[in-house]
Parts: sequence; structure tokens; C-alpha cells
Amino acid sequence: MQWPIEISNLVKEVFCNDEFKAYGQLATVDEEGLPSVRTVHMHGVEQPTYGLLVNCNIQSEKWSHVKKNPRVAGCLWNVENHTQIRFQGVADLITEKEKDFASLLQMMWMKMRPEVRTTYLLDELGIALDIARPTVDPRQHSKNHGLLLITPHVWDIFENNPKDYRLGKRWIYKLKNNQWAWREVNSLHEKST
Ligand SMILES: Cc1cc2nc3c(=O)[nH]c(=O)nc-3n(C[C@H](O)[C@H](O)[C@H](O)COP(=O)(O)O)c2cc1C
Repeated sequence: MQWPIEISNLVKEVFCNDEFKAYGQLATVDEEGLPSVRTVHMHGVEQPTYGLLVNCNIQSEKWSHVKKNPRVAGCLWNVENHTQIRFQGVADLITEKEKDFASLLQMMWMKMRPEVRTTYLLDELGIALDIARPTVDPRQHSKNHGLLLITPHVWDIFENNPKDYRLGKRWIYKLKNNQWAWREVNSLHEKST
């Protein structure tokens, strides 16, 4: 589902910008229904679908949480433009088994730093992570690499005003019946302005 133009522009500026590392916090729901949160690098995509991608290890907790419960939420504070971006949505799991996504998976693998890829490969091979000179080739794809493909259905954008908090602006976009609806809300609560 296509995003509203404001969200599309924001995603391009923040999540599709290789100059800016979009490190945000991603929450999943664990087996007991408790929230579980960690920092991840979020990447925006509009092809093959509109979403956010997160590289991760398929043995990680976030992966097993999403397998049982696809609900996720995320938050990113962009200090450069004083904007807090929050979203709620669902995540799909993508692995090597999904042949349609092979090129996306490879492209996202190469977006990770070589030392992170080396860590994946050493772990997959059962080699101690702290060996002196790893000989694995980080271009080689690890079968333990997967992608979370997040489809947000709520975006909550808060532009903080660094000069005066009360002049900050906040908008909530919600996807309902295949249509995006938005409203401007108070920064302190969700009542309309
Ligand atoms: C700056 C930073 C960026 C990170 N980016 C990712 C990431 O993109 N994907 C990921 O799986 N873990 C990333 N991590 C590690 C996670 O925060 C986390 O420690 C790890 O994935 C295990 O989380 P889990 O057990 O909750 O699944 C990052 C950590 C930091 C500090």
C-alpha cells in the first residue's frame, strides 16, 4: 500500500539515506506478551513493496518473536531535523528460502558492515568470534541472515520545536480500509489540535 506523500518523503530522507544511519528502536512482543526492544538499523523500501527492512539473524529473539506474533512498533529520534518518528505495524520474515527475494536479501546483506557479516559467518560455522584472523569471505551470504519486512499501518510524526516545545507539531497517519487518514494532534496527547 502506497504511503502518503509526507511519509514517502520522510522515509526517503531518513530511511533511504546511506549518509544517515537510521538507528532506531524496534519493539516486538515476546511469548508472554511482554514488549521487547532493541536498537536496529532501519532501511526504507518502496520496491517490491512499501515498508521498512531490518537485517537480522534468524536465530535472534526478535526473529522468534515475530514468527509467533508479527506485531511490531518502532521509534527513531532524528536529532538533525528534531523529529521523532514512531510506527506500529506487522513484520514478515524473509530468508534465503524465499527465492523471489534473493536479490533483495543479497543487496541488504552487502549493506551490513563487513565485520558484522564476518560475525554472522563465524557464528554459522561455529568458530569463536574472537579468533585473531578470521579467514571467512564476508561477500559470502550467511544462511542465518534474514530480513524483517515491516509494513507500518500507523505513523506518528512529532516535529519538536527546539526553540519552544509548545510550538511542536504532531501528525498521526492511520491506514484504515486500505486508505490513509491523517490528523494533526496535540503533542501531549492524541486529541486533535
Ligand atoms: C547501533 C546499533 C545498531 C544495531 N543494528 C542492528 C540491526 O540492524 N539488526 C540487528 O539484528 N541487530 C542490530 N543491533 C543489535 C541489536 O540491538 C541486538 O542487540 C541484537 O540484534 C539482539 O537482539 P534480540 O535478541 O532482541 O533479537 C544493533 C545494535 C546497535 C548498538
